[in-house]
Amino acid sequence: MAKIIAITNQKGGVGKTTTSVNLAACLAAAEKRTLLIDLDPQGNASSCLGMDKESFNKANIYHALINEENFESCIYQTELPSLDICPSNNDLVGAELELVHMFARESKLKVALEAIAHKYDYIIIDCAPSLNLLTVNAFTAAHTYLVPMQTEYLAMEGLSQLLNTVRLIRASLNPRLSLEGILLTMYDSRNNLCKLVANDLMAHFKDDILKSIIPRNVKLSECTSFGKPIILYDITSKGSEAYLSLAREIILKSEKKPEAPAAQTKLPINNSIPKFEDYQVNSQE
Ligand SMILES: Nc1ncnc2c1ncn2[C@@H]1O[C@H](COP(=O)(O)OP(=O)(O)OP(=O)(O)O)[C@@H](O)[C@H]1O
Ligand SMILES: [Mg+2]
Repeated sequence: MAKIIAITNQKGGVGKTTTSVNLAACLAAAEKRTLLIDLDPQGNASSCLGMDKESFNKANIYHALINEENFESCIYQTELPSLDICPSNNDLVGAELELVHMFARESKLKVALEAIAHKYDYIIIDCAPSLNLLTVNAFTAAHTYLVPMQTEYLAMEGLSQLLNTVRLIRASLNPRLSLEGILLTMYDSRNNLCKLVANDLMAHFKDDILKSIIPRNVKLSECTSFGKPIILYDITSKGSEAYLSLAREIILKSEKKPEAPAAQTKLPINNSIPKFEDYQVNSQE
């Protein structure tokens, strides 16, 4: 059964789409059967994989959610043999209004995915920069959520709403939802402010920060205009290296064997480090 990961942060332009596309491509390169779902009406993930979203009038995620069309007819192969995509386009703009009146509106994606989840090892969902009903659908369907954070001033802006939404979803629609990790993006080691912000985030969120850090790398922005993931555009780039490392980290984490129960060791359990989800971050931080 596929592990479903929602890539989310309602702050715009932090690297959600770049991460969704390139993480999905790197998982596929590791021969993991991967599906990328574009859940953003902007359709950026679709164009990053070379789909022309303006002329794309075939079945897409809108039809799977609203018309309850067979999900398989909304899935397309990509250049990478193990990577499929369920694209989106402007159709999705109206989807939220249509969903409001539907039965079990928060679980539409979850139900749709049940039919195809067995065909994949990983399903990556690229969310829009908002906490709307589409994003709630992603949280309801997902096992984990990954939060890209740009290593810049005001990185944590809006985080409190994200964490509150996650709390509400866990209390009602999806108790299994857990944090995959916070991913530091667009890190520039020559920029002192970047370093300061990265250090602050690491001190603040500790183990919840993923070990792989995505550098600011011009090849990562170039490859999108060629409609290719970074590994097909420049496999030797720092961007490729970073996303391959992230895919490796996520595979290792997912396939990790359960540890021996802590109770048998009689060691005091360290509760002193608060987890990401326990923070009450206010938007001024
Ligand atoms: N590591 C990086 N190095 C250089 N440029 C990057 C990097 N990551 C993302 N970018 C560029 O930054 C811009 C925003 O990235 P992206 O579209 O992935 O963010 P997003 O969070 O999906 O945005 P939105 O909130 O609008 O959906 C894009 O132009 C992208 O090419
Ligand atoms: Mg995006």
